[in-house]
Amino acid sequence: MSDEQSGAKNTLSIRDNRTGRDYEVEIHEGDVIRAMDLRQIKVDEGDFGMMSYDPAFVNTASTRSTVTYIDGANGILQYRGYPIEQLAERSSFLEVAYLLLKGELPTQSELDAFVQDVTFHTYVHENMRDLLDSFRYDAHSMGMMISAVSALSTFYPEAKNVHDPDTRWIQINRLVAKMPTLAAFAYRYHRGLPLVYPENELSYSANFLNMLFRIGVKEYRPNPVLERALDVLFILHADHEQNCSATTMRVIGSAEADPFSAMAGAMAALYGPLHGGANEQVLRMLHRIGDVKNVPEFIKGVKNREERLMGFGHRVYKSYDPRAAIIKRTAEEVFEVTGRNPLLDIALELERIALEEDFFVSRNLYPNVDFYSGLIYQALGFPVEMFPVLFAIPRTVGWLAQWQELIEDPEQRIARPRQVFTGSERREFVPVEERG
Ligand code: ACO
Repeated sequence: MSDEQSGAKNTLSIRDNRTGRDYEVEIHEGDVIRAMDLRQIKVDEGDFGMMSYDPAFVNTASTRSTVTYIDGANGILQYRGYPIEQLAERSSFLEVAYLLLKGELPTQSELDAFVQDVTFHTYVHENMRDLLDSFRYDAHSMGMMISAVSALSTFYPEAKNVHDPDTRWIQINRLVAKMPTLAAFAYRYHRGLPLVYPENELSYSANFLNMLFRIGVKEYRPNPVLERALDVLFILHADHEQNCSATTMRVIGSAEADPFSAMAGAMAALYGPLHGGANEQVLRMLHRIGDVKNVPEFIKGVKNREERLMGFGHRVYKSYDPRAAIIKRTAEEVFEVTGRNPLLDIALELERIALEEDFFVSRNLYPNVDFYSGLIYQALGFPVEMFPVLFAIPRTVGWLAQWQELIEDPEQRIARPRQVFTGSERREFVPVEERG
């Protein structure tokens, strides 16, 4: 029976019991009503009108987007319609980057041109070295990266011209290309090693590994299994729709800041331990647990709310994070080359026990992308401080895809949420000597 025959309408009826008035608001695709449609609900004409209250945006869509689709209940993740499993298995990171940024998979010639463009932009201005040199010897790599990306905006003042598609595309190429260079520079600064400049005939991941790990040899060729594993990790981390850092990117972008400045803000959000800092916390947690035999005691502490099981739980996924499943498999491949990371046994035991415990099952807490990624990064030779940086490199693509979509969306304006004011009513100023 059609909607017309059944009398069903795509509207929502609301009765305001304060006034007895009825309202009808339209339901849009995706079971969405427009928050502004609530504003007509008023007690009297002087009233501001009804708003919705949604701390942490748990039930508020801030945009229409065509980039990434997540079905958290069923563990589905798709970029531009393509399942993450197929992309991780059959694609390369730069091919996925093109897909996210342009909306379609590239033809061979489009891909070749994109790879060439990204390769062409891998070098950074020499003054960036001085910037990195000015940090304290033990500076966290992510803090250095945030500053470096922010500083890049001063080298490319034309990036402010955010409404010009050609200018935007050049900045996008620059950011995708320069992130591995800056990350490798930050890493080598820490180690006190001479910087290695980009080798443009290498793949994106191989070039990154070369800039990080080449010491004392003329030619460095990473193990192809490790190169591919890094590329897969980059694919898995490339975008995740409206998460905390993507939303930060959009909010800053909505003020028409240049993409370098907006991305520095997104990176700062990613740095938080509840977001991109989680895999660093996972590793620290596994070290602290120290042995498989200590896992039950640790789980007891989590259930008593003394701490969180890092790498578990997700705002959107209420089943197994599909990225975690792919990473778990990739970890096995990497460990065949590097040798087994002993912390893996602790992680597997944590997962086994947690998935049997009512505390975790009833709250739909499953491993997220960060639970196993840190183990691979460690096996590849990265210190924990580099983990959020390794997340930021591929997520650059997602942030930029989201940013571009925002700029082109005629419905978007400068972001400006409302508040429910709960402070004092107007009161008169009292001079300090008269305050009790
Ligand atoms: N360990 C123990 N309990 C947890 C965990 C956890 N990791 N995650 C959630 N819970 C519990 C909460 O205590 C809460 O229980 P309650 O309802 O009895 O109070 C319930 O599960 C719901 O948790 P919320 O914090 O409300 O969930 P929210 O959606 O706000 O948070 C988050 C999601 C931040 C990811 C959370 O699960 C968490 O802190 N996980 C650990 C950090 C982590 O792994 N972050 C990486 C996320 S993936 C990413 O950003 C790439």
